[in-house]
Amino acid sequence: MNYNQILKDGENFLKKNKIKNPYLDVELILSKVVKRKREEIILNTNNKLKNKDIIKFQHYLLRRSQKEPMAYILGYKYFWKHKFLTNKFVLIPRPDTELIIEETLKYLPNNKSKKILDVGTGSGCIVVSLIKERPKCTATAIDISIKAINVAKTNAKLHQLENKINFINIDIDKYKSYNYDLIISNPPYINSIELNRLDDDIKFHEPKLALSGGYDGFRDLKKVIKKSKKLLKINGKLILEIGYKQKNQCAKILYENKFYINQISKDLSGKERCIVSTKLQ
Ligand SMILES: C[S@@+](CC[C@H](N)C(=O)[O-])C[C@H]1O[C@@H](n2cnc3c(N)ncnc32)[C@H](O)[C@@H]1O
Repeated sequence: MNYNQILKDGENFLKKNKIKNPYLDVELILSKVVKRKREEIILNTNNKLKNKDIIKFQHYLLRRSQKEPMAYILGYKYFWKHKFLTNKFVLIPRPDTELIIEETLKYLPNNKSKKILDVGTGSGCIVVSLIKERPKCTATAIDISIKAINVAKTNAKLHQLENKINFINIDIDKYKSYNYDLIISNPPYINSIELNRLDDDIKFHEPKLALSGGYDGFRDLKKVIKKSKKLLKINGKLILEIGYKQKNQCAKILYENKFYINQISKDLSGKERCIVSTKLQ
């Protein structure tokens, strides 16, 4: 069987299983299997596949047909300017989350050494991207999931930051280290109704621990805000990613905890997604 035939058969199989963008997915899968760039595959469609590669291709295709996200099948996802290893223990880094990087950089001057905490680090995509941009800063990244912490550590190593970021497997509720200049968090914030309405790719494959924010979606946002009040220095910044309908309630919780709201920013689709706030007292 040659590349052309396997791509066509694969595309038809994914189409039957109602997978969006089937051709792109089969090209990426074939590229992984034969360890060649997509461009090389397109230019060499008459190349023949070895039997062992056909079996590997079918294995990945079956996983994709069961709605497993491409980032888990390929084992990586690009975020900000870098490549991050991803597996089923971590949320797949989202383009929307790049907004938190853009906003945070505005509060981290290039020449200053600030002390940063990333709450719910997952793959480590936020903290690694920030420290790559601001190498004078030091960071701690925590996650309740040990498996996520292991992925984040691997990503820090991949980007030569293993000595610059301290990774800790702990629940934010139990964390007791103070005097941070800046806390960032993209906590789980999906409520139980929306959780059931998510696409199958997300609902059945990404970790619930990374998605579910309790029945109203605010369980972890509240925890992070309350705890940040204790962990931040006075005038320290708390920068949060929120769900697109959570702005008002989140602002209320911030005010109740004596935070001043500096800015609320919109993502690429115009939804309010990122709140920058300052601890006042
Ligand atoms: C929405 S994911 C964000 C992952 C990553 N920061 C990103 O933006 O792609 C939330 C992360 O918070 C972690 N988490 C959930 N509850 C937590 C808690 N109580 N304390 C610390 N981490 C928690 C989850 O394991 C998950 O990795």
